[in-house]
Amino acid sequence: MSDGFDLIVIGAGPGGYVCAIRAAQLGMRVACVEKRETLGGTCLNIGCIPSKALLQSSENFTEAAHGFAAHGILVDNVRLDLARMHQRKSEVVTANVRGVEFLFKKNNITWLKGAATIAGPGRVVVAGSEYTAHAIVIATGSESTPLAGVPVDEDRIVTSTGALEFPSVPDHLVVIGAGVIGLELGSVWRRLGARVTVIEYLDRIVPGIDAETATAFQRLLTRQGLSFKLGQKVTAATRENSTITLTLEPAKGGPATTLTADRVLLAIGRRPHTEGLGLAACGIATDARGRIVTDARFATNVPGIYAIGDVIAGAMLAHKAEDEGAALAEILAGQKPHINYEAIPSVIYTWPELAAVGATEEDLKSRGIAYTVGKFPFTANGRARAMGMVDGFVKLLADKHTDRLLGAHILGADAGTLIAECVTALEFGASAEDVARICHAHPTLSEAVKEAALAVEGRALHI
Ligand code: FAD
Ligand code: NAI
Repeated sequence: MSDGFDLIVIGAGPGGYVCAIRAAQLGMRVACVEKRETLGGTCLNIGCIPSKALLQSSENFTEAAHGFAAHGILVDNVRLDLARMHQRKSEVVTANVRGVEFLFKKNNITWLKGAATIAGPGRVVVAGSEYTAHAIVIATGSESTPLAGVPVDEDRIVTSTGALEFPSVPDHLVVIGAGVIGLELGSVWRRLGARVTVIEYLDRIVPGIDAETATAFQRLLTRQGLSFKLGQKVTAATRENSTITLTLEPAKGGPATTLTADRVLLAIGRRPHTEGLGLAACGIATDARGRIVTDARFATNVPGIYAIGDVIAGAMLAHKAEDEGAALAEILAGQKPHINYEAIPSVIYTWPELAAVGATEEDLKSRGIAYTVGKFPFTANGRARAMGMVDGFVKLLADKHTDRLLGAHILGADAGTLIAECVTALEFGASAEDVARICHAHPTLSEAVKEAALAVEGRALHI
C-alpha cells in the first residue's frame, strides 16, 4: 500500500482534471487515475476539441469554395487534403492534452496510469496496487449509447469517435439521431462533400431546444443540403462489404422502408461510463439510467465517495463537468460554492451556431409562467450584413410581470460567444430592460442581443 492521498480522482476529463487542479490549489495531496494514454477525457481526445477542429476546417473549406466569391475573392480549384485536415486536428488535440499534463506537473498532481477499481471507501486499486485517500471522486464520464440491431464496428457503422476519423469523405452518410453530435458531425461531412441523411425518432430535431428556434435551425441545415427523416426509428443495419442497409420503421407504426449508406453514424445519446469501477460491490447507488446518484454536494450514498460530470444527472457538457469539479474540490476544502443549473449555456457549433440558456417557450408554458418574447433577426444587424452572415435571430424570453430574463436562444454567427452576455444577465437576475440599457459596441453582432431586449417591450430600434 502506498502513502495516502487527500483525494483520488478517477477520470481525467474536464470534470476530473479540473477537480484535481482546484483541490491541489487548495492544498490537498491529489492523485488522478486515467486509463487512457493521454489526459483530458472524452472532451479533449475524442469530443469537444477534435470535433471543433474539424468543424472549423470544414467551415473554412466551404467558405473558400462557396463564400469568398461574394467578397470579390476568386479562388480557383479549391481541393480537399483530408489527411492534412486530420493531422491538424490531431495536433490541436495533442497541444490540449499536453497542456493538461503540464498543469498536473505544475500542481504536483500524481497521474496514476491505468483503470481504477474502488475497493471500498478510501481505497482505489490501479494496475494491481492499492492507493488510499480521504475522499474519492468518480469522474468517469460517458460513452455512446448502443442501439439494438445496429452493431458499431467503428469503421462503417461508427460512433462519434469513428466519425472523427473517416479516411475518405463518405458518399452517403446516414446519421441516426438529430441531436448535437449528429448535426455537428453531419455538418462536417456534408461540407466536405458527402450526401447526409439524418434519421430522427421524434418529429423534431434537437429535443430540449426552443421549438421555434429548432424549426428555423432545421430549415437552415436543410438549405445546406442535410436531409431529414423525422419520426423514424432504425431497427436493423446489415453490412455487405462497404454498403450498409438500414431498416427504418415509422415511430408511430406503419410499413418499414430501407435506406443504404456507405457510412452510418450512431448518435442517439450517451450513457454513464461506470464499467469496472466496482460500484455494486461498494454499494454505490445508481438510478434507472445507470447514473451515479448524488446529493447537492456531489456525495454518493457511500461516505467519502463523490461523483461529478457526465456520470451523474444533468447536462452532459464539458463546462458543467468542470464547474462541478471545481465546486466539489471547494466543498472538500470546507468552502460553500454554488452552481446555478438554470444558467448553464449549451452551444451547437454548426453553421450557424445555436446557443441557448435558461427556459424555452415550451418550459414556460408547461410551468404556467406568463412571459414576453423579444426577437431580433440578424438580417437587420449591420455587422452581420457586413460579414455576409445574416441567418438567424436572437430570441429573449422575460417574465411578463417582472421583466426578469428567463431564457435566451440565439441562432446565428458566433451565437456561442454571444450567449455569454445572456448567461451573465440570467446569473445576476437581470431584467430585459437592464440588457437593453447596457451600451453595446457598434457595429457588433451583440447589438442584436440589445435589440431583442428592446423588442421585449416592443421598442426595438432597427426593425
Ligand atoms: P469524460 O470527459 O468522459 O472523462 C472521463 C475519463 O475517465 C475518460 O478519460 C476515461 O478514460 C476515464 N475513465 C473512465 N473509467 C475509468 C476508470 N475506471 N479508471 C480510470 N479512468 C477511467 N461538451 C461541450 O460542452 N462542448 C462540446 O463542444 C462538446 N462536444 C462533444 C463532441 C463529442 C463528439 C462528444 C462525444 C462529446 C462532446 N461534448 C461536448 C461532451 C463532453 O465531452 C462531456 O460532457 C465531457 O467530456 C464530460 O466530462 P467528464 O469529465 O464527466 O468525463
Ligand atoms: P443527443 O441527446 O443530443 O441527441 C440524440 C438524438 O437521438 C435525439 O434527438 C433523440 O431523440 C434521437 N434518438 C434517440 N433514440 C433514437 C433512435 N432509436 N432512432 C433515432 N433517433 C433517436 O445525443 P448525442 O447527439 O448523441 O450527444 C450526446 C451528448 O453529447 C449530448 O447530450 C451533448 O450534451 C453532448 N455533446 C455536446 C456537444 C456540444 O455541447 N456542442 C457536442 C456533442 C455532444
